[in-house]
Amino acid sequence: MSPFSATAYAPATVANLGPGFDVLGLALASPGDRVTVEHSSSPGVTLKAITGHSDSLPLDPARNTACIAASYVLRQIAPEAGITLTLEKGLPLASGLGSSAASAVAGAVAVNALFGSPLSRIELLPACVEAESVVSGRHADNVAPALLGGVVLVTGTTADAVHRLPAPPGLYLAVVTPAVAVPTAQARAVLPATVPLTAMVHQTAQVALLVHALYAGDIALLARAAGGDRVIEPARAHLMPYLTEAKQVAAESGALTTIISGAGPTLCAFCDTQRSAEKTATALVAFYQQMGLAAQGQATTVAPDGARVIDVH
Ligand code: HSE
Repeated sequence: MSPFSATAYAPATVANLGPGFDVLGLALASPGDRVTVEHSSSPGVTLKAITGHSDSLPLDPARNTACIAASYVLRQIAPEAGITLTLEKGLPLASGLGSSAASAVAGAVAVNALFGSPLSRIELLPACVEAESVVSGRHADNVAPALLGGVVLVTGTTADAVHRLPAPPGLYLAVVTPAVAVPTAQARAVLPATVPLTAMVHQTAQVALLVHALYAGDIALLARAAGGDRVIEPARAHLMPYLTEAKQVAAESGALTTIISGAGPTLCAFCDTQRSAEKTATALVAFYQQMGLAAQGQATTVAPDGARVIDVH
């Protein structure tokens, strides 16, 4: 008998990893979003409720990434069926933690699970990319790691363009979000349309070094490469409150380097011990508070697995 309800969790993600704009991303062990879907007599997807970080999230299913991805999967596997969808937002919006991607991935995985998981994990990618493209642009550097876990290189938006990379053991991350919304569209609008050849050469070298460091399991080298972005961060720095000072605070707490997570304003500090990640997260939250900004932070790690089905009954 078909289950009545399915719930899936999808993790936050850090896109870009510094120089790898739109091509690199990793899944975080926490936080994340949850989606529960249930059968309904009305065809298609009905949005039942949004809880948690739900402020200003569109209730229109056509603008909500969990619903868009769920509809896409439903059309593929049970086009006549109907479901209701409940979204529990563990991630703040416009924070640089892949909030829209986590909702999309959790929606796609939950619907697939409700119908017995006929699609493989990677076969859910098109639904997630489609949903992400409605709110944040057509790029897979958040949805691919949210779906698959670990560190991921995306050279396009189709399944054959997704490449899992090794995550070095011993890498700890301090992830801190000041209470400032930076919509991805705005953070993309400030980027240069062209870059000088010298910048292109430098950026290419940093991405190659970063991939080499992942395979070598060299966290110090990884941090050096991640900190080597000379194109995206300078263009976005004015959107990130107190960026220079925050990076200094993180360095003084033992962080090896600090990057903007995705389109920001979340900062992600790379650390080689759990203790320095905890110290960095605490120091950054305190720093933002001194500056009059509420902030949330935590020490976390790379999640080796991406989204998961957490309940089917
Ligand atoms: N690569 C994207 C960006 C991630 O930096 O704009 C945010 O969705």
